Amino acid sequence: MFFICSCQSEFPKKTKAMNKINTKKICIIGAGRVGTTFAAAILNANTTGLKLTAISPGSEKSLKRAVKILGEKAGSVDFFNNNADCAKFADCILISTPDDAIEKVAAEIVNSDPGIVKGKIFIHFSGAKSLKVFAAVAKAGGYTASIHPIKSFASIENSISTLPGTIYGVTYPENKDKTTKEYINFFIASLGGKIIEVDDNKKSMYHAAACVASNYLVSLINYAVKIHESIGIKPEDSLNGLAGLIEGTVANIKNLGPQKALTGPIARGDTGTVKGHINEFKLFMKPGEENIYKVMGAETAKIAFGNGWIKKETLKEFLKIFS
Ligand SMILES: NC(=O)c1ccc[n+]([C@@H]2O[C@H](COP(=O)([O-])OP(=O)(O)OC[C@H]3O[C@@H](n4cnc5c(N)ncnc54)[C@H](OP(=O)(O)O)[C@@H]3O)[C@@H](O)[C@H]2O)c1
Repeated sequence: MFFICSCQSEFPKKTKAMNKINTKKICIIGAGRVGTTFAAAILNANTTGLKLTAISPGSEKSLKRAVKILGEKAGSVDFFNNNADCAKFADCILISTPDDAIEKVAAEIVNSDPGIVKGKIFIHFSGAKSLKVFAAVAKAGGYTASIHPIKSFASIENSISTLPGTIYGVTYPENKDKTTKEYINFFIASLGGKIIEVDDNKKSMYHAAACVASNYLVSLINYAVKIHESIGIKPEDSLNGLAGLIEGTVANIKNLGPQKALTGPIARGDTGTVKGHINEFKLFMKPGEENIYKVMGAETAKIAFGNGWIKKETLKEFLKIFS
């Protein structure tokens, strides 16, 4: 056993007030990228309303990383290697394990003592998982919700400083509890965030959009770097060159919206330039590697047509080139 609750006597005694969901004593289960970012954000929050009492980090590696990142503030939190013990000392249980572990962790807490669940709020961070993963919690009298930060937590240190301003996709159960909603509003506002409500049965599509915007953007830029590599440009030089273009495009998307931010040969109706690209793919890339270019090209031509920037005949010609 690598760690235990260090100061049992300092834990608040279980009182009636503590059982109210608005006392805001919080624990975090899973100290990875998201869990550690939220631990730091709660500890740094400029409000007495949020109090992080306990963390059950996962492996020793996660524990050590969390303690290092939280610095001296880690001293105000108790660390557990048992999720149910950790949950006992909080009114709000934030589960930031990988998606596939959420249901198991929730069931583990319920099975250890259904009595510790009643009246508490269980929140997970998954954009994809429905609230069905909390069925056991709801049955035992707990309140449930999910809050999905629409953000990529690639580096914990960077995520801590950039968390304010994040938009959250928030999902409540059908029988939305007023106090839970008020608490989540307070929690997210205290961390400088804003809310978009997402129905539980539409989470998969909601999450698919986030995957396209974040993960597929990564793949698309990797594809651009590969195209440069095929003509002998080093990946680091390619990325340095593309970075300014990417940042400018993102700024244009934010200012003008994704349709009007479009520029380039397709927006101008330059079919000859695009034909030239496809011919060069045959010379420098492996067969089939032009497919992403073609699929995205067809989508881009539809945007240009939708904007009224190219004629119907030009759209048809582009779609033929990309077929
Ligand atoms: N990363 C993102 O950009 C992002 C964005 C939005 C939402 N989310 C959501 O946030 C949640 C967490 O994602 P993440 O990226 O932070 O994952 P992560 O970095 O892999 O961290 C998961 C943490 O959970 C711990 N863990 C695993 N099983 C556990 C268990 N049974 N009990 C206690 N701890 C356990 C892991 O510990 P060990 O590895 O040490 O065992 C690790 O510390 C997911 O639901 C994800 O969908 C992530």
